[in-house]
Amino acid sequence: MKPIIHTHDAIVVGAGGSGLMAALYASRGADVAVVSKLYPTRSHTGAAQGGVSAALGNNEEDRWEWHAYDTVKGSDYLADQDAVDVLCKEAIDAVVELEHMGLPFDRFPNGKISQRRFGGHTNNDTGKPVMRACHAADRTGHMILQTLYQQCIKNEVNFYDEYQVVDLIRVDDTIRGIVAIEISNGQFHIFHGKAVIFATGGWGRCWEVTSNAHSLTGDGAALCLRRGIPLEDMEFFQFHPTGIFKLGILITEGVRGEGGVLINSEGERFMEKYAPSIKDLASRDVVSRAIFLETKAGRGINGQNYVHLDVTPDTVNHYFKQDGYTDRHIDKEYIEAKLPDIADFTKTYLGVDPTVDPMPIQPTAHYGMGGIPTNVDGEVLLNNDTVIKGLYAAGECACVSVHGANRLGTNSLVDLVVFGRRSGMKVADYCKDAELLPLPEGSADEIMAEFERIRNNTGSVKHHDIRKEMQATMTENVGVFRIQENMDAAVVELAALKKKYVEEMSIDDKGALFNTDILEAWELGCLLDCAEVTAVSAANRKESRGGHARDDFPERDDENWLKHTMCYLQEDGSLTIDYKPVVIGRYEPKPRVY
Ligand code: FUM
Repeated sequence: MKPIIHTHDAIVVGAGGSGLMAALYASRGADVAVVSKLYPTRSHTGAAQGGVSAALGNNEEDRWEWHAYDTVKGSDYLADQDAVDVLCKEAIDAVVELEHMGLPFDRFPNGKISQRRFGGHTNNDTGKPVMRACHAADRTGHMILQTLYQQCIKNEVNFYDEYQVVDLIRVDDTIRGIVAIEISNGQFHIFHGKAVIFATGGWGRCWEVTSNAHSLTGDGAALCLRRGIPLEDMEFFQFHPTGIFKLGILITEGVRGEGGVLINSEGERFMEKYAPSIKDLASRDVVSRAIFLETKAGRGINGQNYVHLDVTPDTVNHYFKQDGYTDRHIDKEYIEAKLPDIADFTKTYLGVDPTVDPMPIQPTAHYGMGGIPTNVDGEVLLNNDTVIKGLYAAGECACVSVHGANRLGTNSLVDLVVFGRRSGMKVADYCKDAELLPLPEGSADEIMAEFERIRNNTGSVKHHDIRKEMQATMTENVGVFRIQENMDAAVVELAALKKKYVEEMSIDDKGALFNTDILEAWELGCLLDCAEVTAVSAANRKESRGGHARDDFPERDDENWLKHTMCYLQEDGSLTIDYKPVVIGRYEPKPRVY
């Protein structure tokens, strides 16, 4: 079957928040197609719960500079501070713009957008948590997705739903389009365009317990890597402290923002030990490590590796009093109004009503701080500052870098609206003058041959077996705490799994219609690539910083490691590492104090 060719000025890959924001803005000056393996409103942005931060100061004093400082401090000083300024300054206007598009934010009694506390977001004068996260109950991401999708439809963006993108067409230092498969019938398509924007999300499925949907398989990052683009800071992967025990499903940090506390088997609010000032609202790397240490010390509930997240009114009101919040008090109705989805999830999956009983939680693989390197306009960088013409990335798959070594909660939604918008604007501008460069002969041949190889391979190993082994080694060896020996073991094991993938893996479904067997097999290849880059980058970084915590190098080492990792795939399949300097601005690196 020959591929079907479509031509549009700009092709957006992925229909989550960043993809839709980029598409919306690009469509103001260009003919845009969004190609997504999902129906757009099923994208993973819909799973973001607690809020999108912007220093609106609707209920107490706040400033974008405080937001910027918190972001830099939370990043363990690895974020590029020029990009952080853009993020925090433009967040204010981006949130107001979403409101004007019709996003149904919760409201304070005075009618202004309601804001709640979130980990690491502070009043910089007092060090106390500040209300910065603008929210629509605990469905903020879902509402962003619905709002942006409606706007895109209104703006006549072309949607190709349930088309899986499987290759990037690059000729020298120019981009010509992408190759996709129509999931319903296996037909290959080429999307020929002047610009491609990757907005494909993360790769949390590399780990066993994750908040990430099945679809989060690192496709965009892997495709760029295979086409000669480096991946930046991949060793920094965030574990969200509160996933449902064993299932990994996210329990929003908004629970702690509303007053919820973490309790160990001894009934102790243990975050008082690890972060005496900000306690349960410390940044995620700190809280995840604390939970891990508590369970390792035998203080997990029932001796297992989970603790309790308690938002029952009695407990919360008790700690409000103890923390000096004399004007705060919550009840069952308040929790049900502010956290309806959480209450629904825990009742459905655990039979636990969070207004009555505490929730069993453990850290869950959540977010990749690294990814495809870009500048603040979403342009993809080939090395430190050379732009590859026509290629853009935004959202979790991109590394701007505003999250550095650890992202603050809510800043993923800020990132995708701010940098999705900037990428879209830049693409609209680029498409005005750029020529449509010709498609090379046989642009889809290589990837079509790879699918035929997967389809016809014989062997007894199934993709789900390899996936399980990959997830086990990533969890054991490249998880919350790391040491050299384990990371080296992961690198060796992943190389062996990649060999098995090529030589021994076979699929059962040889057909064309809705062949999820072959697509999952192909996605596993992307996960293996992302896992390998993560493990190699992690084994190389001999310090602890943010989400990369090493028992054998427990200190941050600014003298040697205040730099970004750039990992390249060479033609022989090996990975090599280079570095890029961190942009320091107003905030000189200093030790983190909690
Ligand atoms: O906890 C949450 O609601 C997640 C938000 C985020 O990852 O930013």
